[in-house]
Amino acid sequence: MGTNGVLQVTDSRTGCSYELPITDGAIRAIDLRQVKVSEDDFGLLCYDPAFLNTASCRSAITFIDGDKGILRYRGYPIEELAGHASFLDVAYLLLHGELPGKEESEAWTREITHHTFVHENVKKFIDGFHHDAHPMGILVSTVAALSTFYPEAKAVADQAIQRDQMVRLIAKMPTLAAFAYRHAMGLPYAYPDDELSYAGNFLNMMWKMTEPRYSPDPVLEHALDALFILHADHEQNCSTSAMRVVGSSQVDPYSAAAAAAAALYGPLHGGANEQVLRMLQEIGSVDNIPAYIARAKRGELRLMGFGHRVYKNFDPRATIIKEIADSVFAVTGRNPLLDIALELERIALADEYFISHKLYPNVDFYSGIIYQAMGFPVSMFPVLFAIGRMPGWLAQWHESAADPEQKIARPRQIYVGEGLRHLNGTIS
Ligand code: CMC
Repeated sequence: MGTNGVLQVTDSRTGCSYELPITDGAIRAIDLRQVKVSEDDFGLLCYDPAFLNTASCRSAITFIDGDKGILRYRGYPIEELAGHASFLDVAYLLLHGELPGKEESEAWTREITHHTFVHENVKKFIDGFHHDAHPMGILVSTVAALSTFYPEAKAVADQAIQRDQMVRLIAKMPTLAAFAYRHAMGLPYAYPDDELSYAGNFLNMMWKMTEPRYSPDPVLEHALDALFILHADHEQNCSTSAMRVVGSSQVDPYSAAAAAAAALYGPLHGGANEQVLRMLQEIGSVDNIPAYIARAKRGELRLMGFGHRVYKNFDPRATIIKEIADSVFAVTGRNPLLDIALELERIALADEYFISHKLYPNVDFYSGIIYQAMGFPVSMFPVLFAIGRMPGWLAQWHESAADPEQKIARPRQIYVGEGLRHLNGTIS
């Protein structure tokens, strides 16, 4: 929280002075409109490409201090949640503001479990995709397609209806994700198992073959649950902003969530974990690391899994993930790419370029190595990110819908094109 006060500014064009109230460390951009050179002037705009210094909302969900490497959901440190809570309890926390009590937790888990099945037509829809369709493309499409199965979701002002859609979206994400994988592998779809945990059921739908009942490895099940928690929310990132912006048109939450998932798919966002693996494979051996880093320093490429818009010292999620990696590798065996990753991190963190640019491993740097050790193909990595992020998208969308200050999102522009001109017979 910043302090309140007043910003006094003088416009050198007119000599006029203005007092702009400062609340919570921010001025309101709309207050700049009074700054004009003439009566018919539109008023001063804020120019902020990529929203580097613009707060688009007031939010009570996630707190980040990028300089100190702090991440909290609803006030709880990410380290405590990842170590002691379940993903579904964290989802409840994000949506409701408080962790559930024992009975609430059981009822919430039952409710989610009850909604894990998808309409059989969703399977037919997935069947229509090409055999090598990227699972993230299938996920984006099937999340959007869900809106056609639940047309009541258009009633965005109806709290009870919207709660149902939020439950459905959290519940069905693992099913859609696993079905996308099974389609690509040419395997029959494995249906949800109500007796398993959220993460355990996802592993069941991914890996179940002929056994009557799939039993997930408890260490991997727990690790995946913790990884989902680490990805559950991250305040106003690219995909969450997409969720809020698209949702501000009052479209149903399935369509808004599909837009958010599409934003996540990009290699600079949730697609980065996939790119990290490809990068480590391309490097191939620790001997090749210095040459690769030199290319990054020359601006020829970026070290994927390095850098963050907000974190400038360390990403607390990356620290936790390194600990999770040890428990996973104890079960799966060590991923040989880990040696390349550790050496890459060591060399980069000692390098002046990375120090001066404040570039550190982010959440995506080690998550892919764990996912790969667990048997997930690289193309599933952003899908796993999307499963974890769904509660965050929904919590942010819900908060935005209830915020009386929010309207349809509609940025301004600075027009730099041609002035008025006429055809003058130039079209033949
Ligand atoms: N490797 C090498 N140089 C980099 C990297 C990198 N990964 N990231 C930033 N830089 C340099 C960049 O070239 C620029 O240098 P200069 O000022 O000399 O021109 C400087 O650092 C600032 O970069 P920027 O692009 O202005 O920073 P940004 O805040 O806009 O970008 C980022 C943040 C995460 C998109 C970027 O660091 C990046 O592309 N990282 C690689 C992709 C990645 O790992 N993404 C996952 C982000 S965490 C999970 C998530 O949110 O999805």
